Amino acid sequence: MYPDWPEPGVDLEPLPRVDGPKLGPFDFKGPQRIEFLEYLGSGQHSHVFKVQILGTVYALKLFRFTYIYDWIGPGPRHTELDDIEAVSAFYQYSEPFSAECRAFGRLQESGHEELAIECFGYLLLDEEHERTLMSRFSDLDLEFSGTWSEPGIEERSRYPGESGKDPPIRGIVKEFGQENTVLRVKDAKKALRDIIQLQQLGIVNIDPEQRQIINGKFADFSIAITTPHYMMNPEMNIFLTPEWRSAVEYEAFGHSLRDYLEFDNMIVGWNCELKWTGNKKHKPLSVFAFPNGKGLQIKYDLRKSPDRERAFSYVDPRTYDWRAPRPGKTLSSKPPRWYYEGSDQHLRNLKRCTDFVPGIEWKYRAGLICPDKGSHWFEGIIESV
Ligand SMILES: Nc1ncnc2c1ncn2[C@@H]1O[C@H](COP(=O)(O)OP(=O)(O)O)[C@@H](O)[C@H]1O
Ligand SMILES: [Mg+2]
Repeated sequence: MYPDWPEPGVDLEPLPRVDGPKLGPFDFKGPQRIEFLEYLGSGQHSHVFKVQILGTVYALKLFRFTYIYDWIGPGPRHTELDDIEAVSAFYQYSEPFSAECRAFGRLQESGHEELAIECFGYLLLDEEHERTLMSRFSDLDLEFSGTWSEPGIEERSRYPGESGKDPPIRGIVKEFGQENTVLRVKDAKKALRDIIQLQQLGIVNIDPEQRQIINGKFADFSIAITTPHYMMNPEMNIFLTPEWRSAVEYEAFGHSLRDYLEFDNMIVGWNCELKWTGNKKHKPLSVFAFPNGKGLQIKYDLRKSPDRERAFSYVDPRTYDWRAPRPGKTLSSKPPRWYYEGSDQHLRNLKRCTDFVPGIEWKYRAGLICPDKGSHWFEGIIESV
């Protein structure tokens, strides 16, 4: 399931091993040689280091072996941990390293790398470098099993490679940068524009938060959902009933919508921080995706607006043609909106939410990832397939 230790002399393949965008390996121009300079920080899914490779400084994000229930999709009650075929199917789309490879792969294939921090490929840390890393930073007790919020439960050894050894640590090499500590009007406008453009490339769940913006660009795609994806493209599963199809569409819409809701929450958070800290140096921002940052609870002039009964998101990410990428195709700053055509219940849910909580849990059955259960969002709508 996890990429195994590479055979000497054999080129690494682009990952992940599934239809859609992939990320190629970092080119060491010979044997792997990394100098670890500094520990930069950690997140839910990784430890990030300042490194030097071939004379250039980079940020190297080394991924933890996180629990399957932490992956975006399988859900907290996932019970198939011993079903290697099922876990492998989810791995390709939903595991944080795979999710990030797919998003950066999409930016490369579409020629729109400018929309995120620059990415130079993935690597599999060899044993010698892993030993060096662990001794150089021994004071940090670095854990690669589990997550930031729940470290320690052994995950890495759960899925050994061919030889029976634990799999190698996976990393992504990125431009080294600085977190944005200040949110100015132009930063906020750029972030919103970038979300709109990333979504036109079929990338959602961008997780817009101030700490994810580095050198003014989105830098963390470990929970991104990139088309084609079982959570976005119900047509990938020809066995879906019409009810399930509309439930999956509802959630796909919710994922698109959520990026804008979270963007607005980021602005509200920044404004609150200014107030609480008595910071008079910066003005509160009013750059919102939705009027006043209140989601779809929009007060329309009823005579004028045809939108009053409809829920919309700013982009339909499914329109990206992943089968025939056109590198360099210009992206619109005002693409056609995605109007949601669903049940009244769905519409009511969407209109009142200030964040979107996905409700579908997914199962692997007969070669396909299928929706299995729906939570409260779908009460009365969904039983089981
Ligand atoms: N390109 C980078 N340059 C400098 N620091 C970085 C870079 N990428 C990440 N970091 C630091 O590492 C932290 C974790 O990275 P992130 O990609 O958000 O990981 P996770 O997916 O685990 O949340 C960031 O909050 C930031 O402090
Ligand atoms: Mg992060």
